Formats: sequence, C-alpha cells, structure tokens
Amino acid sequence: MTCRNKRGKFFVIIERVTSKNRKTYSNLLLNTPINSDTICYGAKVSDDFASGIILAKKDGENPTRWNIKTFYVSSFFRNLGIGSKLLENLIEEVKTRGSAKLCLTVVTSEQSFEKLKDFLSKRKFENPTTLTTVYRFSEEIFGSNIVRASLNSSNPFETIKFVPINDVPGPIMSDLKINEGITYPKNLSLFINENKLEHINSFVAIENNEKAVGWITGLLAPGDLILYRTFFVDKEYRKNALGLALLNEALKTHLTKFKNLEGLCAVSLDNHSVEKFISLYFKSVKYKKHEYEMTLKLN
Ligand SMILES: CC(C)(COP(=O)(O)OP(=O)(O)OC[C@H]1O[C@@H](n2cnc3c(N)ncnc32)[C@H](O)[C@@H]1OP(=O)(O)O)[C@@H](O)C(=O)NCCC(=O)NCCS
Repeated sequence: MTCRNKRGKFFVIIERVTSKNRKTYSNLLLNTPINSDTICYGAKVSDDFASGIILAKKDGENPTRWNIKTFYVSSFFRNLGIGSKLLENLIEEVKTRGSAKLCLTVVTSEQSFEKLKDFLSKRKFENPTTLTTVYRFSEEIFGSNIVRASLNSSNPFETIKFVPINDVPGPIMSDLKINEGITYPKNLSLFINENKLEHINSFVAIENNEKAVGWITGLLAPGDLILYRTFFVDKEYRKNALGLALLNEALKTHLTKFKNLEGLCAVSLDNHSVEKFISLYFKSVKYKKHEYEMTLKLN
C-alpha cells in the first residue's frame, strides 16, 4: 500500500511474520516467540524498516478465543491506515482458524484507552471492560501513613508463619497443587507463572506448620521489577487482616532486600473489598493504570 503524510510518500508492505523474517521486526517483537499458536503481521517501509506489528496468540484455556498481545505502529507512521490494515489481515487469518472471539487487553491510562476504544469501536470491537488496576511502585510507597505504620508492625498471628515459597514443606505444596484443604479460584493460584519467572519474593502463610492459608507471589520480571502475580487469603482468615500482614511481609523484604527493584501489582476489580484495601495501601503511588479489554465477535 502507498501512504502519504506531511513528511512524504511511503510504500508500505504488510506481510506475515514467521520465524524466518522475524529479524526485521525484532525491535517491535522483543523476545515474543512465534509458533503455531501465534499469528503475526508486520508492516515495513522501504528497505526493511519495521513500522508496525500485530500479534495474537491462541488462548491457553479456550482455543476458540485469540488474544492480541501486541499492536503497535511507530508514531511517525500513525494515521496512515497501517494499523487498520494489520488488524484486517489478522482478523481474516484468525477466522480461518475457527476463532469465535478476538480480544485485545491492554494496560494503559484512562486517556489513552479512550482513543484506542474509539479506534476499536469503529472496527466492531465491543464491550469495553476494565479488568484490573495496576500499580507500579518504588520507595515512594513510604509516603503513605498506612504503609509506614504497617511496615513497623510485626506479624500479629501466633499460629501463622510467613514462609518463603522455596522453604515450604513438600507435603504442604503437594496439598496446594491438588487444591486439598484450601479452596482457591484458579486465577489466584500460587502456581500461576506464565513466563516461568523466578520466585524472588513469594511467601506462603502457614498455620501450625501444617496448612497453607494464604500467599503472595513476587516474581522477578524483566525491567528490574518484582511482579506481584497472585495474592490470596483463605475466606476464614480474611476478617483478621491476614492479607494486610502478608502484604507487609512481602513489602518489608522488598524494600530492604530488593530496594533497587520496582514493584508491579495488578488488582482485580471483581473483588471490591481487596480493591478498596489495596487502593488505600497504594494511595501515595503515582503510577496507577488500568487493564482494559475489548472483544470482537467473529461469528
Ligand atoms: C492503535 C494503533 C496501532 C493504530 O495504528 P494506526 O496505524 O495509527 O491506525 P490507522 O492509521 O489505521 O487508523 C488511525 C486513524 O487514522 C485514519 N486513517 C487511516 N488512513 C488514513 C490516511 N491515509 N490518512 C489519514 N488518516 C487515515 C483512520 O481512519 C483512523 O481513524 P478512525 O479510527 O477515526 O477511523 C496506533 O495508534 C498505536 O500504535 N497506538 C499506540 C499503541 C497502542 O495503543 N496499541 C494498542 C494496544 S496493544
């Protein structure tokens, strides 16, 4: 396709990206693997200059759902129709794979999402949903009174210990794997770790040395980050502020042992009480974004 803007006229090639030509798009793809469950299209301008990319992956749990993981056009080449063309190509291809749904999930500010929502709505995506609130924090978190007070307090539970994940006795871990003794939703499992990151700051709350009653997982993520991936407390222990104590334990270690790493934490909006508690806890944190989702029905 030929595109024109104030700065000139460009000939843009939209092509399927595979392991063979991925090198051209390495600055946009980073380390994202391309395999049989991935569909990727790229846009290149004269002499192999990558100007845009779209990549979708088949959903691990629902094979008729595909998720757009990357959709990006370099700012210099925006508003030329490249994004629309990449999306059109992707939609045609996922349709041939029997997909019923194409979803785009993105972490961004409310303002940026409004623009994207407008773009996607015009292309028949619907049902904009806010899934989580995302906080990225560093030592600034000490600015909050509630955090300062909580971090100075010690574990108030006589029978519960906070044990680093690697020191949790084997039988307790085995019980957790089979959901024995404690019931928890799948999406809050201690074992969720899609990118096989290192458990650098994960703690399990263990009662009487025999039973897990909650956990927080802190994974070492690219970009010098600790990603707080799951946080769960057994229903019976929620009223006793065990969640607060568990969070304190992880943050105390974070802010002493891993001072140079930032923290990233996403809180589901499904759970109003946790969302309220976390929003108070992270009140002084400046970086607050949301994870949004929109869906295109394909049949
Ligand atoms: C979202 C994004 C990928 C769109 O890419 P794009 O190449 O700018 O998209 P297009 O050029 O096809 O469309 C943008 C607008 O320009 C218009 N446009 C298309 N061709 C045009 C042309 N030749 N001249 C002028 N405007 C044009 C489109 O109609 C569209 O407006 P509309 O939505 O009102 O119809 C891009 O804005 C981007 O990278 N944003 C930042 C990252 C992001 O938010 N990614 C999504 C989540 S992962």
